[in-house]
Amino acid sequence: MSKKEMKRILVTGAVGQIGSELTIALREKYNNDDVLATGRKTKPSETLLNSGPFEFIDIVNKKSIEKVVKDYDVDTIYNMAAILSAVGEKNPELCWNVNINGLYNIFDIALEYDMTRVFVPSSIAVFGPESPKENTPQETILKPKTMYGVSKVTGELLGDYYFKRFNLDVRGLRYPGIISSETLPGGGTTDYAVEIFYEAIKNKKYSCFVKESTILPMMYMPDCLKASIDLMNVDISKLKHHCDFNLTAMSFSVGELVSEIKKYISEFDCEYKPDFRQDIADSWPRSIDDTAARKEWGWGPDYDLSAVTKDMIKKLRIRFEEGNL
Ligand code: SER
Repeated sequence: MSKKEMKRILVTGAVGQIGSELTIALREKYNNDDVLATGRKTKPSETLLNSGPFEFIDIVNKKSIEKVVKDYDVDTIYNMAAILSAVGEKNPELCWNVNINGLYNIFDIALEYDMTRVFVPSSIAVFGPESPKENTPQETILKPKTMYGVSKVTGELLGDYYFKRFNLDVRGLRYPGIISSETLPGGGTTDYAVEIFYEAIKNKKYSCFVKESTILPMMYMPDCLKASIDLMNVDISKLKHHCDFNLTAMSFSVGELVSEIKKYISEFDCEYKPDFRQDIADSWPRSIDDTAARKEWGWGPDYDLSAVTKDMIKKLRIRFEEGNL
């Protein structure tokens, strides 16, 4: 098999919001046994366990990564393990350790074991109050005010450095908030856009931790999976950027989201109790210019706010009726 083809894929953070669905999508695309899911301590779902291999590792512990890389002959890594923005503000040391030292281990091992490709997600959190808020350009000031943002800027720079200096094929996207119906996000600022659906279905009310007027860029999980896998499969000669692609599907205020949900659940009531996460949200862009991703590898989303709302409510209603929410 040529070096350009992927053989064995390691997904870190596979029990998390994106990792859990990405693992299944990769298993559907490639052989189930060739996609190794790994987590740090949270118990994996039956779906994850029954569809392919699973191991516990800690990316901060280099030896634990090395062991599975050798055992499974890994040649491609999707490094989805990360501490998100809100938890990162409560525990900046942990955030640094996982998002920077852990990532360094991943790059080092990828180089040592001559890997084909590494995927490293970045985030809209790389931007800060000095960046333009509307249609935030690909190239602009990056002065984040959260530890999470600091770690993501560093990750982008480190990835681009490994590409240029060592010829390691590292690719990454600046994810907006990701909305999904399978696994809840853990400890981010955009979590409200997911929790609101769960609470609307379960209790018909939600207490939101950011203001009604808060607008952030968002994306539905199927688009997030499509973007991540497409970027990893595009011919490298097409790419001018590597680890820092701006990416978006839609932008909406919490008020607009509530109105959409009310079309399906008219009694739904949302109250607003902003906490420390309001400041984080206010430091991020309201909308994103993702022209580079569209031009370089043909990115384009399939879901807008009304399509997301319809699908989320349908999927979560089924889970609720099955007693699985
Ligand atoms: N969803 C992330 C967070 O809110 C941003 O990338 O922390």
